[in-house]
Amino acid sequence: MPLSVALTGASGFIGGVLAARLRENGYQVRALLRSKTHQPDLEAIGVEVIHGTLGHLKNVKNLVHSCDVVIHCAGAIRGRRQEDFYEANVAAIAHLSQACRTLRPPPKFILISSLAAREPSLSTYAWSKREGELTLIREAGDLSWVIFRPPAVYGPKDQSLRPLFQLMQWGIGIQLSPQISRFSLIHVEDFAGAIMAWITKGKPSGHLFEVDDGFPGGYTWDEVFNSSQQPVRFRVSIPQLALRMAALFNEKSSALLGYPPLLTKGKVAELQHTNWVCDTRETFQLLDWHPQISLKTGLRQLLTSDSL
Ligand SMILES: NC(=O)c1ccc[n+]([C@@H]2O[C@H](COP(=O)([O-])OP(=O)(O)OC[C@H]3O[C@@H](n4cnc5c(N)ncnc54)[C@H](OP(=O)(O)O)[C@@H]3O)[C@@H](O)[C@H]2O)c1
Repeated sequence: MPLSVALTGASGFIGGVLAARLRENGYQVRALLRSKTHQPDLEAIGVEVIHGTLGHLKNVKNLVHSCDVVIHCAGAIRGRRQEDFYEANVAAIAHLSQACRTLRPPPKFILISSLAAREPSLSTYAWSKREGELTLIREAGDLSWVIFRPPAVYGPKDQSLRPLFQLMQWGIGIQLSPQISRFSLIHVEDFAGAIMAWITKGKPSGHLFEVDDGFPGGYTWDEVFNSSQQPVRFRVSIPQLALRMAALFNEKSSALLGYPPLLTKGKVAELQHTNWVCDTRETFQLLDWHPQISLKTGLRQLLTSDSL
């Protein structure tokens, strides 16, 4: 019998790639969606889709029943207030672990957190990701679990870094954080590979993995710009004050128009933080897995593919 995986967030950037890789590797995949937009694409690759929200224990029980592995990849990444992040990033984890604990044998639980969880005081998003991790650790009981903390993830269909990389193709480098910043990156296919590695081995349990593309010490902006196929001739460093003003304006207009903002005061605080380098000393050894895609290769694939 192929292993069956219950997946949240399958309609998103990372979840969509995970669903595809799991299916390619012969896993049965059941996904919980709250809208029908991505249902045809997922069904076309053989994913069983069920509908509902993460806020209801009944939906969550329907998702996880008789599965071997649960991956909680859904996450709210835009918002201003705690309640914008709470359902997907915290409450859902309590519901999922509660539902999993009643199953025999209990499924293995994978939580997609974020490197942001390392600095919960910076933003409401970072706080919610750390709260989510603590919720799993508290509620896991006898479940076998793992937490992945990726840094910024890039690849086809990513909405956040793609515009910056596209500008690099035109020779323009936009620097969003201080010159001294260092940050890790990972291609979405490598990130999916790390998760698959843990599913295959199922151990170690109760571990928190920071995972990146293996570039030692993280990137500087110079190293990112130098990874572009096209030479970056014009560099623009966005001043912190301008970012703060834009965030303030965005927060006010989002409150008025009712959309969840991406650029907020909290996001600016995350950008100003100068150390987003993963600690992978144990990761590659314990997972017995190594990333395959360097930034240079990832950018070349991304910028020459139709996906951009
Ligand atoms: N992308 C990155 O660079 C990055 C870095 C570190 C960590 N992460 C984490 O990775 C996970 C996936 O991120 P992503 O980049 O793939 O984001 P994404 O493209 O925005 O996808 C988010 C997914 O979560 C679902 N979701 C959000 N709020 C939900 C809610 N209240 N109830 C049910 N589903 C909800 C979305 O469903 P709808 O389609 O219905 O909106 C979508 O499927 C998140 O947990 C994020 O925190 C991402």
